[in-house]
Amino acid sequence: MQIFGSDIESLTFAASQVSNDFNLVDINMGCPAPKVVKNGDGSKLLQNLDLVGSIVEEVVKASSTPVTVKIRKGWSKSNDVSVQASKIIEQAGASMITIHGRTRDEFFSGEVDLEAIKKVKESVSIPVIGNGNIVDEESALKMFEYTGVDGIMIGRASMGNPWLFQRIIHYLQTGEKLKEASNKEKLEIMIQHIELEVAKKGERVGIPELRKHLACYIRNLPNASKIRVTINQINSKNQLIEYLKECF
Ligand SMILES: Cc1cc2nc3c(=O)[nH]c(=O)nc-3n(C[C@H](O)[C@H](O)[C@H](O)COP(=O)(O)O)c2cc1C
Repeated sequence: MQIFGSDIESLTFAASQVSNDFNLVDINMGCPAPKVVKNGDGSKLLQNLDLVGSIVEEVVKASSTPVTVKIRKGWSKSNDVSVQASKIIEQAGASMITIHGRTRDEFFSGEVDLEAIKKVKESVSIPVIGNGNIVDEESALKMFEYTGVDGIMIGRASMGNPWLFQRIIHYLQTGEKLKEASNKEKLEIMIQHIELEVAKKGERVGIPELRKHLACYIRNLPNASKIRVTINQINSKNQLIEYLKECF
């Protein structure tokens, strides 16, 4: 369970509540969203490393399960604090660090700084997870080989492509690539995704939330943009499934 904030009392309260039900408590120190950083939370914390240390120390004390931290490289190009922050986080008792190799100013675009991730890995002894722009087998292997990280985290590329994890694991273990998922497999997973979402949230909330995911599943189909427009006008689960069956 990931928590975010900058108020130590709130964070320790949250950690004490959720740590009984989850395997670990992760503190988000990487989110770049304006509504988050304007409160001093997420990646804004990287401009206040004393507070980073205090937060981690107190959350570790309050949590009954290991505490991990997700960071970015820093706030801006002139503020690469990744190594310094990582040492403070380790010293404060965290069990693992995930680093997204971009600054806050870069949001989600541009190169990922593998060199910075490598330096973080070399500067601490707790496990380090590398993150940023891992989209396929090659980029996953490169993250491991270049930086020496203990694990990788994949974000955007897994949307509409949950097969990616299995493909990467297979490639890392055997050096061979699995075949692309067939349209039949894609359709089955999409239907399962729709059923789960609607069972949890109902059609009124679930269907609009599904649209961005469905747009990712269909992005390689020849008529993707036309299909997306139609999907965005459908409000019922059964109609959505029927339409996707036609498309696939
Ligand atoms: C829509 C969106 C929501 C995200 N939400 C979170 C979040 O709640 N917590 C978090 O640690 N990272 C979050 N991230 C960041 C990703 O975990 C990841 O660090 C980032 O997207 C870079 O990895 P990628 O290139 O594999 O996507 C989010 C990213 C996106 C695009």
